[in-house]
Amino acid sequence: MKTIELKLKDKKYPVFLGYNILKYLPGLLKEKGVYQIFIITDSNLKKIYGDTLINLLEKNKFRVFLFDIPAGEENKNLINLEKLVKSMLSSGADRYSFLIALGGGVISDLAGFIAATFMRGIRWGIIPTTLLSQVDSSIGGKVGIDLKEGKNLLGAFYFPNFVLSDFKFLENLPENELRNGLVEIIKTAVVFSSNLLKFIETKPIISPINFKNLISVIYQAIKIKTKVIKEDPYDEKGKRIFLNLGHTFGHALEQASNYKLTHAQAAALGLLIACGISKKLKILKDDLKERLENLFKKYNLFYDISQINLDLIEKAIFNDKKRKNNHLNFILPVKSGKVIVKTNIPKEIWKKSVIEIQNSGG
Ligand SMILES: NC(=O)c1ccc[n+]([C@@H]2O[C@H](COP(=O)([O-])OP(=O)(O)OC[C@H]3O[C@@H](n4cnc5c(N)ncnc54)[C@H](O)[C@@H]3O)[C@@H](O)[C@H]2O)c1
Ligand SMILES: [Zn+2]
Repeated sequence: MKTIELKLKDKKYPVFLGYNILKYLPGLLKEKGVYQIFIITDSNLKKIYGDTLINLLEKNKFRVFLFDIPAGEENKNLINLEKLVKSMLSSGADRYSFLIALGGGVISDLAGFIAATFMRGIRWGIIPTTLLSQVDSSIGGKVGIDLKEGKNLLGAFYFPNFVLSDFKFLENLPENELRNGLVEIIKTAVVFSSNLLKFIETKPIISPINFKNLISVIYQAIKIKTKVIKEDPYDEKGKRIFLNLGHTFGHALEQASNYKLTHAQAAALGLLIACGISKKLKILKDDLKERLENLFKKYNLFYDISQINLDLIEKAIFNDKKRKNNHLNFILPVKSGKVIVKTNIPKEIWKKSVIEIQNSGG
């Protein structure tokens, strides 16, 4: 088992990484003096891992409760938040209870928001079970839920007490979920590491899964993300904003498609749109856009968005919460491993780039 320590100004926590490391969970919780545990998970994971986890913890004399919500983004909402909190209260949850998020980003975002707000904050740990959550959503302390008006509109920064990333979970992960995670890794590579991007382009990673290469990619991606979080834990000034590459458009496409596109599918297209804008402004001069297009085609991530209404996309872009004083911040690639932030890009330019992707067929 490897440990990456995340030291922030006022908090530090470990990210444990390894294959088949769930068995270390009871020891970890005992060290923290935990006695009562509330596991929050989704319906799929409850079926596969619920009993195993409850048995492991009960065998070690913890008082354990497990609550699940139906799987899927549309359930990261206020209704489930209230249901979960009420179930916790009626089972005797108090300020000293420990919460565990077992699942992908939907679960850690929702459970983390509960941990942040339940009785003004309780301790919690994340057991991320998707590739996306292992490399991205479990690292960085952002938690929250969606509202009808948009994604992640209620949220907080609330860092966990630990993250336990067991690669064994990835064995059961459906292929399309592996692909979704890969997009976030490709995004991280485009922003920070041309070496990582080359590695992904040249080695077999998923479809079919190559564990050795996949684990190497996960380590590299987590290393980069933890470094960025250390420098800018609250997304205020530093490079953390770069990780939004492709996401203004990604979120807009998700919303405009009425969430038919997943976060990662939309983010992949968002990356291509960002490249398109950058090319038009002559900031990006090399073949990064074509390289990414090839990668996304190879992994079946180049979805057809010709049916999504352009006006809806535009509206969603202006609703994006990252809009500041009517300026949209766009993060644009300069080359593989380097991006810049640009404001006030003329509407015609970014609209053209969206249309280009709509017309390219997917
Ligand atoms: N907080 C952050 O910094 C951050 C960053 C990126 C994304 N996110 C959020 O993450 C969410 C997406 O997360 P996700 O892609 O992990 O999706 P998810 O949590 O919806 O999981 C995807 C699907 O895989 C299933 N699943 C999970 N683990 C499994 C396993 N080991 N075996 C079999 N099935 C499994 C789930 O039941 C679900 O159906 C979005 O809500 C997004 O907003 C948050
Ligand atoms: Zn993302």
